[in-house]
Amino acid sequence: QTVENFAPRVLAWFDVHGRKDLPWQKDKTPYRVWISEIMLQQTQVTTVIPYYEKFMSSFPDVYALASAKQDDVLAHWSGLGYYARARNMHKAATMLVDEFDGEFPKTVEGVCELPGIGRSTASAILSISRGVQSAILDGNVKRVLARFHAIPNWPGEKKTENRMWGVAESYMPEIRCGEYTQAMMDLGATLCTRSKPKCHVCPLSEDCAGLASGEPTTFPISKPK
Ligand code: ADE
Repeated sequence: QTVENFAPRVLAWFDVHGRKDLPWQKDKTPYRVWISEIMLQQTQVTTVIPYYEKFMSSFPDVYALASAKQDDVLAHWSGLGYYARARNMHKAATMLVDEFDGEFPKTVEGVCELPGIGRSTASAILSISRGVQSAILDGNVKRVLARFHAIPNWPGEKKTENRMWGVAESYMPEIRCGEYTQAMMDLGATLCTRSKPKCHVCPLSEDCAGLASGEPTTFPISKPK
């Protein structure tokens, strides 16, 4: 019964403890969620907030971004690092305008064709902005699932990663898909942390095999030598 209970427990926790008032959670259009997910890929929420606000006031929609000069886009990124993110984003904006009529694709496969967007980010954007029932598997979620199932294999291995995608999809609920995506990210970022996880307040602790093992932080296991 774990499969049926997983999402409801995560969502009940999110209702009480999740963040619901971040700038990109206000008007959840695909464009706004896309920009937030790219910024959040390698950067902390508190750092991203002012960059996001400034970016949105300068480039409020995909047309504004597509017609901007690359130098202007990069200037808005100055300090965030990983500048390939900004270059890919600008390129993707021109593709959306030139090839997709300014419309964000409606499927994960379609979104994955844009530069700089992989399967997990595509699913995050579509679930959060459009309620599409598509699971994410970013670093945080990999850690949550590896611990919950005490997975004895390294997630960097393709076979293990594929299995984890299957697990992630099996837990994705049919309703509240976007909130579930956000809840999993928040759970991984705030409770199921790399070190000193807060298992005593985790909604999944009762059935967590990693916790039952006595050493939850050994999961996910590190790269074999
Ligand atoms: N990291 C990537 N996407 C995120 C999100 N939506 N919320 C918090 N952290 C994230």
